[in-house]
Amino acid sequence: MSTATHEGDNRTHISLTINGLAVDVTAGMTLVEAAWHAGVPGITGVGCLEGVCGSCRVMLRKDKVVSVGLACQTFVESGIEVIFLPAASAPRHHYDISDFKDSWDIHARFHSIFPEASRCRHCHGCVGACPKDISVEDGVALAAQGRYREAGEAFFECVMCELCDVACPELIAPAHVGLFSRRITAHFHLRPPNLITRLEELRQRREEMGEGEKDED
Ligand code: SF4
Ligand code: SF4
Ligand code: FES
Repeated sequence: MSTATHEGDNRTHISLTINGLAVDVTAGMTLVEAAWHAGVPGITGVGCLEGVCGSCRVMLRKDKVVSVGLACQTFVESGIEVIFLPAASAPRHHYDISDFKDSWDIHARFHSIFPEASRCRHCHGCVGACPKDISVEDGVALAAQGRYREAGEAFFECVMCELCDVACPELIAPAHVGLFSRRITAHFHLRPPNLITRLEELRQRREEMGEGEKDED
């Protein structure tokens, strides 16, 4: 595997493997573009191409160093081995946010839903795996202390790629701890005033239109 220019072509060409296939592509391509350009079959986990949907998860190996990332945000490199990962499996932690009627028992219920969250061994695996540079480990610790608003803020940029879940040896599912924190914070907070006002305007409009239709009858 090498970096080279081809005769009559000034662009730098890069050789790497994607899902076990040797491919030769142009420097500056993302891993998604490289896979498509080379016609690598079976690449299904791709969505937004903007680092937002979190679906293009890849495992990378170079010089015996293994890492993970998002293929649409990672550029080709000479000699790298790329494996597109399957979609994340179904979540193991189940709850219905509408079952939370008051905020006094959140903490007990959080620990019954996520019993592993208090067993973080501070290995930093989740932090190293996160393509969004989120302080995942700190976010988990905040949630485990009952500081859900702060935990939710820590996960604000999360795209739910769940690479942190893959990296966690305690099966804490940090991505879902973050999602829970954001959901529970929103569940017990008033919505933004401009949104409340707009929804009320729409409700009143619907009412007026409903009355108008009755008049026409
Ligand atoms: S916190 Fe986890 S799920 Fe969210 S972006 Fe980072 S690795 Fe992905
Ligand atoms: S990977 Fe899991 S155990 Fe390790 S620091 Fe993150 S949450 Fe804690
Ligand atoms: S395709 Fe959506 S994050 Fe890469």
